[in-house]
Amino acid sequence: TQAPVNVTVTGAAGQIGYALLFRIASGQLLGPDTPVKLRLLEIPQAVKAAEGTALELEDGAFPQLAGIDIFDDAKQAFAGANVALLVGARPRTKGMERADLLEANGGIFKPQGEAINAGAADDIRVLVVGNPANTNALIAQSHAPDVPAERFTAMTRLDHNRAVAQLAKKLDAPVGEVRKLTIWGNHSASQYPDIFHAEVAGRNAAEAVNDEKWLAEEFIPRVAKRGAEIIEARGASSAASAANAAIDHVHDWVLGTAEGDWTSMAIPSDGSYGVPEGLISSFPVVCKGGKYEIVQGLEISEFSRGRIDASVGELAEEREAVKKLGLI
Ligand code: NAI
Repeated sequence: TQAPVNVTVTGAAGQIGYALLFRIASGQLLGPDTPVKLRLLEIPQAVKAAEGTALELEDGAFPQLAGIDIFDDAKQAFAGANVALLVGARPRTKGMERADLLEANGGIFKPQGEAINAGAADDIRVLVVGNPANTNALIAQSHAPDVPAERFTAMTRLDHNRAVAQLAKKLDAPVGEVRKLTIWGNHSASQYPDIFHAEVAGRNAAEAVNDEKWLAEEFIPRVAKRGAEIIEARGASSAASAANAAIDHVHDWVLGTAEGDWTSMAIPSDGSYGVPEGLISSFPVVCKGGKYEIVQGLEISEFSRGRIDASVGELAEEREAVKKLGLI
């Protein structure tokens, strides 16, 4: 039998953590044959709540769950980690300026990056979920110089899944028939969900939709602002769908994307598609053999170019802001 994979989850007592941990324990992150050991990181005040979740995980009697350890110290939590899901973050509160938000998150993601650098396993893969996810990932990555930069990723899979579902609905097709959709840029309202290369039941999606007004005025803003729509309806932010997307992101990264399809991941740019090198920006990627690769050679229309540039521009501004604050 295989040795257990160490999966570190931060913000374990939060609402995404609650949905995420059971999915991991049930074998959905790395496949049913891979045992996992959970390493939960919380702030001291929330350790007790994390312990409560651990009791419930025990009560799940999951055959794949090889153990649970709980920490309030990042160095310990990331020791030996093979997969790290960085969910815990400092949310924006009323009256908080962007610089304050970035600074508060720098206080979380800098020490976590250092801890990953110090003690994670050689094959460590990091997914940042906590917002502002792309820039938090950049902060963590910049404090882990011994870890290959490409191991630091941020989550745009929820946006990707939302876009797939909205497109399927529009064309009255099953979601399983949608392929090759792309989220470009930042996980924020500036993101660009691109259907020009997407296929629905083998047809080009943009041609099948054939409605640029719907695309510009309904689809793109609906996907980009879906988070706010959920908060409005549920009285709380997306949790189970975010956990689901985190599972999808890591699952596909490790086990591969389906033949003839790709997915969206925010990853350190290598300069492809004019995205400045080093920015952690969302791209279309194919995963194989535990590695991802940016899908090359897509033709970018003027409609798409302006939207990609706007979102990437926002990422560049965020990078400048955290540089100024001395966080990277
Ligand atoms: P939550 O507030 O329910 O839970 C966050 C947890 O993180 C809390 O238990 C808190 O104690 C913990 N935490 C705070 N600082 C920590 C630290 N330094 N180390 C370890 N744990 C720490 O929030 P929720 O709903 O679970 O969301 C978590 C994050 O995910 C938020 O930043 C949210 O904006 C983001 N998010 C990202 C999405 C994406 O698509 N990328 C989608 C939905 C949410």
